[in-house]
Amino acid sequence: MLPLVILATFLKPALAARAFLNEPDTGIDRTVGDIGVGILPDLTDMVSLPDFDFAARNYLPALNYTYYRQAAGGEGSYRNNLEIFGNYRFLPRQMQDVTALNSTLPTTILGYNFSLPFFIAPASRAAYGHPKAEAGLVEAAGREGILYARSQFATLSINEVHALKAPGQVLFQQFYRAPTLEEDQANLDSIAAVGAKAVILTVDTNSYGSRQRGLRYGFDRTENRGYRNVTWEYYHTLRNMTSLPIVLKGIQNVRDAQAAVDNGVAAIYLSNHGGRQLETSPSALEVAHDIYVNAPDIYKQIEVYADGGVRYGSDILKLMAFGVRAVGLARPFMYANIYGVEGVQRAIQLLRNELSRDASNLGLADIKALNTSWIQTTRSSWVGFI
Ligand SMILES: Cc1cc2nc3c(=O)[nH]c(=O)nc-3n(C[C@H](O)[C@H](O)[C@H](O)COP(=O)(O)O)c2cc1C
Ligand SMILES: *[C@@H]1O[C@H](CO)[C@@H](O)[C@H](O)[C@H]1NC(C)=O
Ligand SMILES: *[C@@H]1O[C@H](CO)[C@@H](O)[C@H](O)[C@H]1NC(C)=O
Ligand SMILES: *[C@@H]1O[C@H](CO)[C@@H](O)[C@H](O)[C@H]1NC(C)=O
Ligand SMILES: *[C@@H]1O[C@H](CO)[C@@H](O)[C@H](O)[C@H]1NC(C)=O
Ligand SMILES: *[C@@H]1O[C@H](CO)[C@@H](O)[C@H](O)[C@H]1NC(C)=O
Ligand SMILES: *[C@@H]1O[C@H](CO)[C@@H](O)[C@H](O)[C@H]1NC(C)=O
Repeated sequence: MLPLVILATFLKPALAARAFLNEPDTGIDRTVGDIGVGILPDLTDMVSLPDFDFAARNYLPALNYTYYRQAAGGEGSYRNNLEIFGNYRFLPRQMQDVTALNSTLPTTILGYNFSLPFFIAPASRAAYGHPKAEAGLVEAAGREGILYARSQFATLSINEVHALKAPGQVLFQQFYRAPTLEEDQANLDSIAAVGAKAVILTVDTNSYGSRQRGLRYGFDRTENRGYRNVTWEYYHTLRNMTSLPIVLKGIQNVRDAQAAVDNGVAAIYLSNHGGRQLETSPSALEVAHDIYVNAPDIYKQIEVYADGGVRYGSDILKLMAFGVRAVGLARPFMYANIYGVEGVQRAIQLLRNELSRDASNLGLADIKALNTSWIQTTRSSWVGFI
């Protein structure tokens, strides 16, 4: 029998906070060679989405990288977004004919055809990563047939981005409430005029988030403009101001999801803004799970999209298993854009490859057959919020 005080000494390391790795160690530091500010590793050295984070962190000036990387508070939501996927186990099946799986990857989003069930989420200021700014995003999305949703605060204007569309390419446009309805109307009119196919109204940003990492570099958009007043009444006002479908982005609660159905919303987009808004807000995967448990019909009544911390093909499958139709990623594509269009295209291809490999190893013959029978819907060990 060990004396208690000795036992306590052994227990101590187990109780200490576990180290958080922004990217899991898969050995990139051993292959990229010389790396530092202004030195871009070979694109062929990028074999996964987290590799682009490593490349961007080393290549970009600290201010530029921090703009993309920053998140709210102690960044618990940011970390949880990444780590929560590890708490859900797959229930793989063997002896399945998966050989036609690839033909099932294309999907529709609000009725528009896309080659894959993931998309480029709206993120502002691509010029922090590449001189051609959003050109890399819209062009790579066009080449690969996926959706790109332009941020209202993109570097390139809405007209510049739409001028870069491939023939038939569909873009959605993210939207924040402006100080006056006249400005809102002008924004909506230019969105319709360029031919964007949907408005994504962001509802999780009454204030700019408390982003410590960014404050160190002067990124602060509070500017005492007062709180944004985004209510159901505002939604209905906006609904009357455009004929485009309106998607609500930033839904984090099953009751708001239900209210969206009750208010006749076209689609909802589960998101905590990449952990950039409210510290300890839930990840989209947790919200998707809550909706599944408490109001599963929502997935049949309305299209549901989700983003936050998605880095692997397997992450996409878990969100889709709960009923999510399409999954967004922001930072990975912003980091990949340090290589311009070729980098973003490679990121899309790497993720498509993972998605198809992971779905096939799960035993899925048809990605549309994903449901909760493919995952454990009780979480395993809890590792989030360290
Ligand atoms: C640099 C950056 C800028 C963003 N800008 C916007 C924006 O203008 N509008 C918006 O609705 N969401 C914005 N987001 C949030 C993303 O659309 C998305 O919800 C989130 O980043 C997804 O998490 P991920 O970065 O882990 O993929 C931004 C995110 C980042 C990283
Ligand atoms: C989407 O693809 C289907 C066939 O795969 C086609 O019939 C349909 O016209 C396409 N829709 C659009 C809007 O392009
Ligand atoms: C960093 O951001 C600034 C401001 O957008 C931009 O002028 C500069 O080119 C960026 N640096 C790199 C390496 O992209
Ligand atoms: C905020 O919007 C609601 C309805 O959308 C309105 O009733 C309220 O007066 C607005 N608040 C302010 C301060 O304008
Ligand atoms: C929307 O427009 C309809 C028809 O013009 C009108 O009856 C309704 O009151 C309007 N709603 C809002 C919130 O503006
Ligand atoms: C399925 O698609 C992936 C990704 O594009 C590709 O690498 C793979 O070869 C395809 N597999 C089959 C069996 O077609
Ligand atoms: C999942 O889908 C299969 C059919 O593809 C169905 O038999 C099964 O009941 C579904 N399971 C759940 C939990 O919805």
